Amino acid sequence: MSTADIGLIGLAVMGSNLALNIAEKGYTVAVHNRTASRIDNFVAMATEQGLVGNVIAKADIAEFIASIKRPRSIIIMVKAGAPVDEMIEHLLPYLEEGDAIIECGNSLFTDTQRRFDYLKPKNIGYLGVGVSGGEEGARHGPSIMVGGSEQQWHNAEAVLTAIAAQFNGESCCAYLGEGGAGHFVKTIHNGIEYGDMQMIAEVYGVMRDGLGMSPGECADVFKEWNKGPLNSYLIEITGHVLAAIDEQTGQPLVELILDKAGQKGTGVWSAIAAQQMGVPATAIEGAVAARSISARKDERVAAEAIYGKPNRTKTEVTLAELEQALLAGKIVSYAQGFAVIAKASEENGWALPLATIAKIWRAGCIIRSRFLDQMSAAYAKGGNTNLLVVPDFVELMKEAHPSLRKVVAAGAVGEFPLVCLSAALSYFDSYRQAQGTANLIQGQRDFFGAHGFEIEGRGSNLHAKWPSTLEIAALKPVIGG
Ligand code: 6PG
Repeated sequence: MSTADIGLIGLAVMGSNLALNIAEKGYTVAVHNRTASRIDNFVAMATEQGLVGNVIAKADIAEFIASIKRPRSIIIMVKAGAPVDEMIEHLLPYLEEGDAIIECGNSLFTDTQRRFDYLKPKNIGYLGVGVSGGEEGARHGPSIMVGGSEQQWHNAEAVLTAIAAQFNGESCCAYLGEGGAGHFVKTIHNGIEYGDMQMIAEVYGVMRDGLGMSPGECADVFKEWNKGPLNSYLIEITGHVLAAIDEQTGQPLVELILDKAGQKGTGVWSAIAAQQMGVPATAIEGAVAARSISARKDERVAAEAIYGKPNRTKTEVTLAELEQALLAGKIVSYAQGFAVIAKASEENGWALPLATIAKIWRAGCIIRSRFLDQMSAAYAKGGNTNLLVVPDFVELMKEAHPSLRKVVAAGAVGEFPLVCLSAALSYFDSYRQAQGTANLIQGQRDFFGAHGFEIEGRGSNLHAKWPSTLEIAALKPVIGG
């Protein structure tokens, strides 16, 4: 008999936790996994948690499909990339028109768009869903960014809305647009996550190397900051990471962890998307680049041997200035991330709701913060404008940018790399100046390529009569000749 409200395939940690979350919210979930032992482990876990009554476990794929109410909603939680395509092909023979596949991994949004387009003529719905919040979020309430077939979203809406995190009684799950919209928004969420993490790490670097603070002292500062405008999950966990002691050695754990950061791709995808659409996202790009530099440990060790240890003189910045610098960097980074989302919305015809996106990021996800509540309120007042010119944030930025400036200057003098914070400051300084320096670039482009320039009141695509290489050579002796 078909009694399950929803199906779920892929019982690794994230999939298992999502299934347990669904069962806990009172929905019946059918589960399946290619490796049957995973199903047994899951059933044992569900039994232990008193949730097995809401679970239908099926090792046989046909029986699994048959156990789900029609039109079927089937979550797949497999590794991004080829395994998703393989799973779609595996499922297709069993599906009927109106059924839907709901893919909840960190997929590249263009792959999701392609899969959506592939299944549409077959009348099979495809939802590409970004799920943020890690393993714990999946179990107790993640932020859920839905994209794809709108009709099939409504079939799964009750379940997805119920399992998501709640913020002031509102579910942190929303339908954002067709095709790859959900996975695109999740990608930019991760890009912003990279920026937040990198800027926090840079500030930790100033505390450690410029102010000579111990990890425990840094931890106390982050715990304090978590009570103020920076209040967020990432600031909170930073306090815990810095306070952790390695059991084996009794040393602060953070000092033993190798300074090489990993990355799985979403940061790079954010930077590529931003560049492809011509939206400057320098804080995200800086954060991605900083991870790549971190990974080149051997090269860094060799370069330090050549240039000598950085000359890290005592830094003249206060903790209050560091807090404000982080806030200013964060405003810039979110301004950039949301500008990328706004542009993608326009280019793909998605009508992505910025206020809603900020709303569903207020709880459950990795970048959840008080700041996002302020942002959603600001965007709700209207417009897709750059956050830097949204009135509430203008005030914050006016107050905070002098500290960012001071910290970045201290970094330059004190030989601290502040890749992301300095990128944020340069963006701010470029964005808020009416007169830049690209007039010279246009002159250069016209000089060597006749690319044209514009003069107000005289028109665009104008050219100057520049001297030729031969004429220049006649004017000046060739160097060394
Ligand atoms: C989330 C996280 C999650 C995962 C990232 C980490 O929102 O829950 O972003 O998706 O932790 O994939 O990405 P990196 O391995 O690239 O840091």
